[in-house]
Amino acid sequence: MTSLPGFHRHDLQGRRDELKRLFAFEAEEWDALSAAPALLEISDVMVESAVGCAPLPLGIAEGFLIDGEDVAIPMAVEEPSVIAAASFAARIVRGAGGFRTHASDPLMTAQVFLEMVTEDGEERLHGCAPRVREALAVLLASLERRGGGFRSVRIARLPVTGVVRVDVLIDVRDSMGANRLNAAAELIRPLVEELSGGRALMAILSNEARDRIAGARCEIPCAKLERLLPPGMSGEEAARRIAAASAVAQEDPSRAVTHNKGIMNGISSLALATMNDTRAIEAAAHAWAARNGSSAGLSTWNVMNGQLAGWLEMPLPMATTGGSVGFHPAARASLRILGFPDAPRLCRIAAAVGLAQNFAALLALVTDGIQKGHMRHHFARLAWRAGARGAEVRRLAESLARTENQDEAAARALLARLRERAP
Ligand code: MEV
Repeated sequence: MTSLPGFHRHDLQGRRDELKRLFAFEAEEWDALSAAPALLEISDVMVESAVGCAPLPLGIAEGFLIDGEDVAIPMAVEEPSVIAAASFAARIVRGAGGFRTHASDPLMTAQVFLEMVTEDGEERLHGCAPRVREALAVLLASLERRGGGFRSVRIARLPVTGVVRVDVLIDVRDSMGANRLNAAAELIRPLVEELSGGRALMAILSNEARDRIAGARCEIPCAKLERLLPPGMSGEEAARRIAAASAVAQEDPSRAVTHNKGIMNGISSLALATMNDTRAIEAAAHAWAARNGSSAGLSTWNVMNGQLAGWLEMPLPMATTGGSVGFHPAARASLRILGFPDAPRLCRIAAAVGLAQNFAALLALVTDGIQKGHMRHHFARLAWRAGARGAEVRRLAESLARTENQDEAAARALLARLRERAP
């Protein structure tokens, strides 16, 4: 264990020197933490005690047709099969007309929780919307100019603690809105205390994001599945099995969690590539999945008129400006690849990616199983660990897939033979 007293008080170079002195990094490890000086400086501005960058692989899922438009999807993710699966699903759905998507207005909620509120006090809160709006006018002026800003107030008393919750709904336009929502909650705190006669316990945004919903749907003719299936399985049967797997995720919370994790593979990878707040998005998704009392699948699949129809709807608090999204050049690069969408469009794209990811996972699960697709990536990593580089990686991975013995020693031996044979 190493404690680093006063570490955050050093400047960036001082922290990096100290870190290097304390830990016996291999050159490759140190290089991996290091980035271009400008990026290191950005890290230093973005987080406390910065020492470098964590370089996650960034890839592009291709083939997506979303509301009639081609979209290339930047995805940052460490799991090998995620991008391949998204592209695979996108190409199939593309052949069936692509994804159709929708998104609500970007409404988020700022909350104040009040203790010791009498029934009269609660009653007075019910008429507080004009005063709240007035109190927030300056804070929300720039949002109002862009068509967003204050929308409404909701009041609720929590049945167990008796705490009264004041929800202020704000249209945050293209931002995630966290700073503005938190500022709004803190700003109205004295006002709602005065009106209710209660005392504020806390004031903060809600990550539930249940008023910021996006969704995607697609329909795939069963016949189009045919060429993807193991011998002997018809398109109808594969579609029936996908629908059955989706019903299991509706019924069984233990499966729903895994089903939804697969959906989030796509959404969180896009969120990371655009430097959106993945924790907020995941928190909202899992709360939504459990909104009826226990976790259920976020998507559903049904077979109708010879078509497999998929549907996904969920909260998606994603931004295209503000926070780290507008700040970090890597996030801007991802937005450029996406064609600089506004926030509702980004959320709609995310919903399509989530549904694509879910389709690819379910199709694999109800046919060949998930491991078959994973092995190609496993062999590439094994080839790398055995010392293969450049074009050797693919050649060695392909040889490994054909051999019985698939451990690192066997990979080294195979690599040596490949090199002997190389011209
Ligand atoms: C793996 O990251 C995701 C899956 O487990 C999703 C699922 O089971 O639906 C394949």
